[in-house]
Amino acid sequence: AASKPWAGRFAEPTDAFVEGFTASVGFDQRLYREDIAGSTAHARMLARQGILSADECASIVAGLERIAERIEAGDFSWSVPLEDVHMNIEAALTADIGEAGKRLHTGRSRNDQVATDIRLWLRGEIDAIQVALQKLREALLGLAEREAATILPGFTHLQVAQPVTFGHHMMAWHAMLERDTGRFIDCRRRLNQMPLGAAALAGTSYSIDRDYTAELLGFDAPCENSLDAVSDRDFAIEFVSAASILMMHLSRFAEELILWSSAQFDFIELADSFCTGSSIMPQKKNPDVPELIRGKTGRIFGHLMALLTLMKGQPLAYNKDNQEDKEPLFDTADTLRGSLKVFAEMMARLRCKPERMRAAATQGFATATDLADYLVHKGIAFRDAHEVVGRAVAYAIQQHRDLAELTLDELRRFSPAIGPDVFEVLRLDGSVAARDHIGGTAPSQVLAAVARARARRDCS
Ligand code: ARG
Repeated sequence: AASKPWAGRFAEPTDAFVEGFTASVGFDQRLYREDIAGSTAHARMLARQGILSADECASIVAGLERIAERIEAGDFSWSVPLEDVHMNIEAALTADIGEAGKRLHTGRSRNDQVATDIRLWLRGEIDAIQVALQKLREALLGLAEREAATILPGFTHLQVAQPVTFGHHMMAWHAMLERDTGRFIDCRRRLNQMPLGAAALAGTSYSIDRDYTAELLGFDAPCENSLDAVSDRDFAIEFVSAASILMMHLSRFAEELILWSSAQFDFIELADSFCTGSSIMPQKKNPDVPELIRGKTGRIFGHLMALLTLMKGQPLAYNKDNQEDKEPLFDTADTLRGSLKVFAEMMARLRCKPERMRAAATQGFATATDLADYLVHKGIAFRDAHEVVGRAVAYAIQQHRDLAELTLDELRRFSPAIGPDVFEVLRLDGSVAARDHIGGTAPSQVLAAVARARARRDCS
């Protein structure tokens, strides 16, 4: 077995099972790029401060580059006795370049090293997530524009409430996703501080230049406090929180798509390539993609709980518990990126069934509120108007007819204020067009909302 960098004070070798139990290289090798970037910047800083010679630095930087190439070519063997990505790379470097490799860890600890690696990695993931989230938002804007005037029933309590436009409905989801974008921007800003220099926990006695290393690595600043820098993972919790909220939105949205593609609603058609069939029932076309997104939300919520619980009992500063931060974090980013990608592609190919949506909106007395508002315009108090319309609805239910299907004489039995112009307000198109203010469902407002969202995007 490779000899361990910390073997000096030990009298017996690590128990064979413990070796595997404590190792993280099986999963943290994924951080190799960030680990090499961090080491390269650290070596440059040490050389600039005169702590390493220029030759040593050049040899370290070139050696690290060769290791990256070997890893990428699949030509690097990871050693479990060397525990983690950090010691594997450092040992390979020393095997390659000799003496200078042993000087790389000057003024550094794996504690500030790993905290730096994760932050660098997460920063890159957030940037990729923002691109994927933007694509989904674009798909929704396109759909909202195309279906700005398409009418469907709006629901409260999953009961028909009032007609709304499909574009307006899509813009509701867009508003939620826009706030999600903001949450990731905030998270990235707070995490972009550099732990290096904190060393194990107390800082280091070498004359380091943390600002320089931070600049090389694209961090906004070094972390203020060395104990905090190596021990907190609140940035990871914040990321998984933002991911959980986003997945909660995607899950709700997925739930609607599943309902809407059922025979009972039949409002939309998902592209065949985003659905699967049944091995027994030949007629089936199942909305697997939205169902899986709804299902995967559970695992992200689980990761959030895992990370919160991981931190809650840890005294300062670094504890090995923190090694458990990686798998939940990796899986959160992977799951989120996959979910966003497939959601965006699925939405771009969504087909609406406007006639089915309209038919559903004509059931359930979706324009009853419009009739009450009509009576208010005729001088009746809203509470009285509400009562009048309630009685008219009860009559229509008994008749198995919609309000718009009653004759003027029938309607006038409930209020003499009703005139022949009433049928205009009972129409679905009149109802949505009347909600003509910022945030309202009128088609013109949907188009204005799309334009405003695009303008915000272009100046952000
Ligand atoms: N593999 C460790 C982790 O993921 C790296 C830091 C180890 N530090 C230590 N003192 N054992 O957290």
